[in-house]
Amino acid sequence: MNNILEVRNLDFEYYDGVVLRNVSFSLEKGDFLGIIGANGTGKSTLLKLILGLLPCRSEQITLFGTDRTEFNELSKIGYVSQKSNSFNSDFPATVQEVVSANLYSQIGFLCRAEKKHRVMCEKAIAAVGLEDCKNKQIGKLSGGQQQRAFIARTLVNNPELIILDEPTVGVDAPSVEVITKIIADLNSKGITVIMTNHDTHSLISLANKLLVLSEDGCASFYDKKKLSEYKLTRICEGLEGHNHA
Ligand SMILES: Nc1ncnc2c1ncn2[C@@H]1O[C@H](COP(=O)(O)OP(=O)(O)OP(=O)(O)O)[C@@H](O)[C@H]1O
Ligand SMILES: [Mg+2]
Repeated sequence: MNNILEVRNLDFEYYDGVVLRNVSFSLEKGDFLGIIGANGTGKSTLLKLILGLLPCRSEQITLFGTDRTEFNELSKIGYVSQKSNSFNSDFPATVQEVVSANLYSQIGFLCRAEKKHRVMCEKAIAAVGLEDCKNKQIGKLSGGQQQRAFIARTLVNNPELIILDEPTVGVDAPSVEVITKIIADLNSKGITVIMTNHDTHSLISLANKLLVLSEDGCASFYDKKKLSEYKLTRICEGLEGHNHA
């Protein structure tokens, strides 16, 4: 299945105003979509709509060829939410427990993990380089390590699509580099990635497709290889998109 996601004429409003207006784009297997937009332009809202955390109308979103409203193969999608690493430092779970908790659909509620599940966890933890921290309490890790643990948590199900909402916010520069490399490696293995990030320059260098959201709720979708250097620079500087067309 090459067709991973189709968004068609998507509109969305919370009770107090329109956030997204007639947004359309599509992604194929292996694409890396960078979503660019100022604070409050609807990046997280769009991700939540794709994930089914907010409601859409049928026909507006198709995932893996299935209408979003009918789609139930959630283990195909990994999600790292915005600020997923900012929680109570006393949170009583180790890295291994946080990662394996995401396997509950395979293990079964209150059932014991089998050897194969433990191997799947070890593999996911190794993919983000946290082997030495696997028995540490998650709240005691650095912000960057916690974010890597949350990426491992999504990897444990072998997802085909990973959605990351500002995965490097609030982490130090060396961790940004490590996390960015982990995400780029996953994409190079054929996993489709959707990511938002306020470091537009870095996001543009990673992505092959770009979605620029404007303050009026409209979006412009670009295939990076068809963009001139001039246009890319303008997108990078926040000068391109619906408002500036
Ligand atoms: N649950 C909610 N109820 C009402 N309004 C909301 C809700 N969540 C977000 N909004 C509003 O919708 C708009 C888009 O919010 P969203 O979080 O999607 O933006 P964003 O582009 O992700 O911003 P940021 O860059 O700050 O993460 C904002 O005006 C926000 O105030
Ligand atoms: Mg957001």
